[in-house]
Amino acid sequence: MQKNPSDIIPDLGPSLAQFLQEEQQQFPDIHKALPPILRTIAAASKPINEVVRKLGLVGMMGGQGTYNFSGDAQQKLDMTAHDCFVHMLATIKEVCAVVSEEEETIITFPNNYGNYVIALDPLDGSSNIDANAAIGTIFSVYQRCSPQYTPVQQEDVLQTGEKQLAAGYILYGTSTIFVYTACHGVHGFTYEPAVGAFFLTHQGMQMPHDGVSYAINDGYFDIFPGYIQRYIRRCRRDGYTARYMGALVADFHRHLSQGGIYLYPPTHKNPEGRLRLMLECNALACVAEQAGGVASNGQQAILTIQPQAIHQRVPLYIGSKNMVQALLEKVV
Ligand code: AHG
Ligand code: MN
Ligand code: MN
Repeated sequence: MQKNPSDIIPDLGPSLAQFLQEEQQQFPDIHKALPPILRTIAAASKPINEVVRKLGLVGMMGGQGTYNFSGDAQQKLDMTAHDCFVHMLATIKEVCAVVSEEEETIITFPNNYGNYVIALDPLDGSSNIDANAAIGTIFSVYQRCSPQYTPVQQEDVLQTGEKQLAAGYILYGTSTIFVYTACHGVHGFTYEPAVGAFFLTHQGMQMPHDGVSYAINDGYFDIFPGYIQRYIRRCRRDGYTARYMGALVADFHRHLSQGGIYLYPPTHKNPEGRLRLMLECNALACVAEQAGGVASNGQQAILTIQPQAIHQRVPLYIGSKNMVQALLEKVV
């Protein structure tokens, strides 16, 4: 007779699959397609997690000698994660297209019957891979705006973040956690490798309105705009702690749990900042707002920016409401 996982490992919360189903029944405005799409994204993260946990043993360290559209060197794991998510999303009828940090153009699936588009950073924090530090995956789900059964258009992809139906991330950290919102709160699920499934561990996550830490690449301090330098000096003066993980997902998760602010301002090197609006910022902005946090490019809410291109970059200030607002008061 098959054993229930809770006979072997006590005190497991509901699985991600159970929770998604119940949430969709509780909130009928959640599209019926979201549970299968989110389950598929979670399923695709499992083989990535397997590889991450064995990295050097399976020859997955290092670069592969190619560059993505943003000009970043592609690591082996970047492309493995990209291939895995795209392959898995192609297997379900709900999804017609994917855009990814590792591919210049829209990836469409041959049937094109699906009604939903996924935006992905398959592997966030690539410079952490070989350092054995935290990395992640970031995703957004949109409904296409052109009619189903017709070729996917740019406008199906270039939608404002406000149009996201769901968004979230997977953090491959000390444990592996899947955090998502279907615009009814933010929930986190920890991966139980013995069972091979995610279980609820963080229900109704709320980002504290104030935090104790700030995350920014201090190496660029001298080339940050004056208002950023003034804000950072104030953080130092007021006794905030500096923490910078080199992976947006990891910094964001710390702030979602404990409060804080992440900043990636414009610099001479990257006048629009470094982070991608569609592939990184929108998803985390959606999670942040659902959890009571704030995300801005310094001028407007991230979720209201009309994307002009898939790989468009924007400055990003995201985190605890009061910390981001204090920064925005300094922006000139
Ligand atoms: P990616 O690995 O997907 O290219 O993203 C890296 C991002 C982000 O995760 C991180 O916070 C930031 O780039 C680091 O950039 P710097 O090295 O310029 O600080
Ligand atoms: Mn990234
Ligand atoms: Mn990436």
